[in-house]
Formats: sequence, C-alpha cells, structure tokens
Amino acid sequence: MQIPSPVIDRQPLPTHVAIIMDGNGRWAQARGLPRSAGHHRGAEAVRRAVEGARELGVGYLTLYAFSSENWKRPAAEVDDLMGLLRLYLRRELAELDRNEVRVRFIGERRRLPEDIVQLIDEAEALTERNRGLTLVIALNYGSQLEIVRAAQALACEVARGSLLPEDIDETAFRKRLQTADIPDPDVLIRTSGEQRLSNFLLWQAAYAELVFLDILWPDFGKADLAGAIDEFHRRERRYGAVSS
Ligand code: FPP
Repeated sequence: MQIPSPVIDRQPLPTHVAIIMDGNGRWAQARGLPRSAGHHRGAEAVRRAVEGARELGVGYLTLYAFSSENWKRPAAEVDDLMGLLRLYLRRELAELDRNEVRVRFIGERRRLPEDIVQLIDEAEALTERNRGLTLVIALNYGSQLEIVRAAQALACEVARGSLLPEDIDETAFRKRLQTADIPDPDVLIRTSGEQRLSNFLLWQAAYAELVFLDILWPDFGKADLAGAIDEFHRRERRYGAVSS
C-alpha cells in the first residue's frame, strides 16, 4: 500500500516576504575565496528566491540588496556589488517581465551610478503593468532616513497649510513612506544567524514574523523560503490581541 506523502498546507500564503540577505562574505571566507565570490553566489541565490516566491504565489518579495551603510565598505567591494546589480538587471529583466514580475526599487537614488539609475527606471517602467510577483529591491536603502523623509514631508505640508498637525496619524505617516502602496511584510527572513534588523523596514516590520536562518545567503534555496513560510504558519499571529 502506498502511504500518501504529507501535503504541507502553506495557505494562506504570506502576502509579503522580506529578506535580509546576509553571509556572502562568510561563505567566501570559509572557502578561502575573495568576498566577491560570495556576492556572485549570492546573486544566484537571488534568482532562486525570486523563482521560489513566484512558484509559491507570494505577492511581494523585498530584498535588501545594498544598505545606506554599505557605502562604508571598500570601494572595490561597492563596485562589485553595483556590477552584480547591473548584470542582474541586464540579464534577468526580460525574463522577469515575461514572468509577469513587477520590479520596484526603494532607497535613495542619489549617490548611485548614473547608469544604474537608468536601469532602475527602465526596469520599473517596463514591468509597471505586470501583475504577478512584485519584486522590491532595496538599494541604497536605510529605514531611519526613510522615516525622517516622511516626517519632513509631513512638516512641509503643515507649514504650507495643506495638513493639520492633528491629522497626522499612522495612516498619514505610512502614506509618506516609499512603501506607501506596498503591504507590510508578513515574514522577515535574515540569513547567516545574525538576529538584527539592520535599519531595514523598521516601520513596516512592526508585526512581521522574524525568521532567522542559520544558513549563509549563497546557500539559500527554494526549500528555505518554503521552510520560512511554514515557520510563519506555525506561529500564532495576534496583532496584540488575545487568542480566541
Ligand atoms: C550581505 O553579505 C550581503 C550584501 C551586503 C549584499 C547582497 C547582495 C547580493 C546578494 C548580490 C546582488 C544582489 C542582487 C539583487 C542581484 P555580507 O557581505 O555582509 O556577508 P558577511 O556578513 O558574511 O560579511
């Protein structure tokens, strides 16, 4: 008699999964390779994560590709990371588009190389109407600055007289964030065993389930994404209320 294999119920799927891709350097170091080798393998893991999210039917996948603090790394490493992003966008854009993936970017465009800004604009414009997975790439992104910018926008509106201070609430604030039209992440994954948010989606992750994986980003695969979603399902989500 054939024993049926257990079917894992991943429904309802999280709408939005966000990932802090960490551990490229350690992956390379453990193999006696330069850090750049870790980033290259990390870019392959990006492809697997995007494919996995599409196959599972996740609505939004946000990847922390380059933080506003990453400029402090040696110039050669920064160039390498920008080069990888350039390569990824050039090589994958047509296929992402064919697969109905909408590509979005959050973060500050200033300081990014001009051709990268152009590629970002092209990617966003080309995929704007796609209704499959939305891939959000956080590039030169820092959550504290994003929050400060939202506060500045509100202050300007109050100074202009188009907004009353008493009308500033969570909804008004959220609308001034770069993620205004993106649902908050349900699950936030960080690889490499580190357990920090590192200035990533601080406002948006208020109720996200945090899943810390003891694997390095270049080793991340579709099964790890599915496993993190299973972990999300195992946890009770109460939004501050009590169990019924
Ligand atoms: C963290 O590893 C990873 C990064 C700072 C960058 C992530 C970039 C990629 C995965 C490659 C390209 C991205 C895209 C979207 C194509 P780390 O260098 O901090 O590792 P360590 O903590 O072990 O040193």
